[in-house]
Amino acid sequence: MIPEKSPERTRRPEDYNVEMLSKETLETYRRMTPGERLALALRMTQENIPALFEGTPEEVDRRFEMLARENDERNQNMLAAFARCQKNLRLQWDREHVWHAFTQMQDYEPLLIDRGEGCWLIDADGRRYLDGSASMWCNVHGHRHPRLDAALTAQAGKVAHTTNLGLSNSTTVEFARRLVEIAPAGLEKVFFSGDGSSAIEAALKMAFQYWRQAAPPQPARTRFVAIGEAYHGDTLGAIGVGGVDRFTSLFQPLTFEAIRVPSPGGPCPATGSPPPSLADALGAVEQAFITHTGTIAALVMEPLVQMAAGIYVHPPGFLRGVADLCRKHDVLLILDEVATGFGRTGTMFACEQEAVSPDFLCLAKGLTAGYLPMAATLTTARVWNAFLGTHADQRTFFHGHTYGGNPLAAAVGLESLAIFRDDRVLDALPAKIARLREHGERLARLDHVGALRQCGLVVGLDLVADRATGQGYPWQERRGARACLAARKHGAILRQLGDTVVIMPPLSIALDELDLLAAAAEAGIRDATASGSPIA
Ligand SMILES: Cc1ncc(COP(=O)(O)O)c(C=O)c1O
Repeated sequence: MIPEKSPERTRRPEDYNVEMLSKETLETYRRMTPGERLALALRMTQENIPALFEGTPEEVDRRFEMLARENDERNQNMLAAFARCQKNLRLQWDREHVWHAFTQMQDYEPLLIDRGEGCWLIDADGRRYLDGSASMWCNVHGHRHPRLDAALTAQAGKVAHTTNLGLSNSTTVEFARRLVEIAPAGLEKVFFSGDGSSAIEAALKMAFQYWRQAAPPQPARTRFVAIGEAYHGDTLGAIGVGGVDRFTSLFQPLTFEAIRVPSPGGPCPATGSPPPSLADALGAVEQAFITHTGTIAALVMEPLVQMAAGIYVHPPGFLRGVADLCRKHDVLLILDEVATGFGRTGTMFACEQEAVSPDFLCLAKGLTAGYLPMAATLTTARVWNAFLGTHADQRTFFHGHTYGGNPLAAAVGLESLAIFRDDRVLDALPAKIARLREHGERLARLDHVGALRQCGLVVGLDLVADRATGQGYPWQERRGARACLAARKHGAILRQLGDTVVIMPPLSIALDELDLLAAAAEAGIRDATASGSPIA
């Protein structure tokens, strides 16, 4: 069964090859249990290195123990060297090949995250950081949540992906049903896509097409109203309604122009002047509806807080007022809850706080608790019905994404909603929001912090050169980015919006972790604002 030993010399393992083994030999080997294979390997070793087996059984044992120990040490050292080598290679490949989002690659300093545990991220050297940006505002229950991991694995054991173009999947259907159950009344139809921008694109296109197919049709309704420094994503339609100039102005020739009304949130970045009052802001919305009457398809807004603008918090009543004006002027209302949805503002959806039920609700990020890319555009029967007809009527929504409704993402999303319910996640938020407020207020007293804005479990802190006058830093100094990079040295990953440092942890963060996160943010801000001009 085993190839004969050569008469001339002992064969080394590399002397054997598959062709030398007969079919029967291979078959016999395959049928062996692992124990039998081990015994065989030992026998072959014994035949090749008889000296190892010389002496009493005790001597052989001792020899093997010593060899095992030496081997362990050698292995440990080799493993460590191998890990270092792998890490360095990855750092190099990261610099060479990966084009990071919203990042100047010429300045990019890689940080490789290898693992996550709850609210902590662990880098390739084993250093731990609190995830102070909830992995870009999407992590909800922490990393490696056992229930989410199990749901993902269980779904992978069934099927990873099936298309939702004319076909369905049990898990995705169940998820759609649960979303309808928890969404504001009237939102009964769920269109799945892949990320927040896609959810917005779907809503914009649905609103546009709706008016062409409404009874009676109003094809002149083609325009969108958007709020000040809105951010709705980076695809072309989304930047059409976006108003953060540094992200959108370059691409304006590629997209459409929205009707923009001022935000009653944060300061006007261009002038630094205070925002309009609630009454003025609502007045501007109504004026836009009147000026452009008959041509507006929808108004799109982030409810309660415009995140990417710089955590611009709207005064209470703005959302309700806008919703009422939309009803009055028969303008469809698209609420972008990509960032505010799933507990961030203290309620499951921000729009609940002003009892608003929109025509479209766009969800992403926390939809899968920060595990997998998935988005959803929820809408009403009124909109859905306008798309019904025979094939010949050509009322179909010709729009979709390959991975829309992906069952793995749906399984995790479903489990995330179960965790919200079972762990009473929303009930735990007021204490965390209050603790974040305490820390925010303390940080707002630092020499170079000008303003603090908070909505639920997110705060934005503006860094300023002169606290007394509110004078900001020259943008070239990138103080916000520097503060966030410095915070890494103090054990936290944070992400800035210009010179606004944002603290937005997973909802599952514990109070003592919040204390650590705030301390790291403070240390980062102090480091970045200590010197005169830190331009590299
Ligand atoms: C309010 C809002 N809408 C849309 C988006 C775009 O989402 P995504 O990055 O998943 O395309 C974002 C992303 O931050 C957002 O904050």
